[in-house]
Amino acid sequence: MWNYLQGGTDNYSIDREAGDAYAGPYPEIFYLAGQVRQFLERTVRWVASEAGVRQFFDIGCGLPAQRGLRNTHEVAQAVDPRCRVVYVDNDPVVYAHAQALLVSTVSDGGEIAYIEADARDTDNLIAQAANTINFTEPVAVLLMGILGALRFDEALAVVGTLMRAIPTGSYLIFSDGRDTESRHEALARRNETGINRYELRTREQMARYFDGLDMVEPGIVPVTQWRPEPVEVGTLRPVEGYGGVGRKS
Ligand SMILES: C[S@@+](CC[C@H](N)C(=O)[O-])C[C@H]1O[C@@H](n2cnc3c(N)ncnc32)[C@H](O)[C@@H]1O
Repeated sequence: MWNYLQGGTDNYSIDREAGDAYAGPYPEIFYLAGQVRQFLERTVRWVASEAGVRQFFDIGCGLPAQRGLRNTHEVAQAVDPRCRVVYVDNDPVVYAHAQALLVSTVSDGGEIAYIEADARDTDNLIAQAANTINFTEPVAVLLMGILGALRFDEALAVVGTLMRAIPTGSYLIFSDGRDTESRHEALARRNETGINRYELRTREQMARYFDGLDMVEPGIVPVTQWRPEPVEVGTLRPVEGYGGVGRKS
């Protein structure tokens, strides 16, 4: 469904049905889906170039981005080809497309791996990722649009386990849908389609994910307002997808 909302072509009729059910009362979701991916690009580039992180653990990565949107390894390896990236998703369709995702655009020292697993099986995830990621060196953990698929207590437990596994100088990069009245009907319709359930979270709940971390400026904000870059046409508008970056110190 997310691939459809991001303008991709790797989707089935059930995905489009669920996407349209969501978009009916909330057409803004198409704009938001694209902006979330651009937030991913800006945050990964910032963490790689400004913070010097070379390892990325992208959990709930989704299908490979299309139509001008880029994937974590493409952004990170454009900064340094030696970056190592581990992708995780529990959707078998994402795994089927991972062959395309796993192709690095650079040949120089970097590594990319893909794990098909449930994020809630966090210890297993970390054990498998350790084949590619050195957990004594800084790691950027990406949790983009996935934590709403988990109950809030499960989401907190997953984040806590991941943050304990990474050393000082590591980062959490997060985004998700903010709980606002305008999205309730859309979400109810989406959840009725039988696709996996999703929950929106308040900003206060999102802040809990960053407990014990130092927030990078400007904090948890609409994704379009996180260190925006100049746009060629039009203006960026605030969205109800929020995101932020935190550093483990
Ligand atoms: C909304 S998409 C976000 C994709 C991408 N991170 C982005 O921001 O564009 C959420 C992804 O999380 C995956 N996901 C949901 N629950 C999961 C779980 N428990 N474990 C692993 N992946 C999960 C879904 O299969 C889907 O690909």
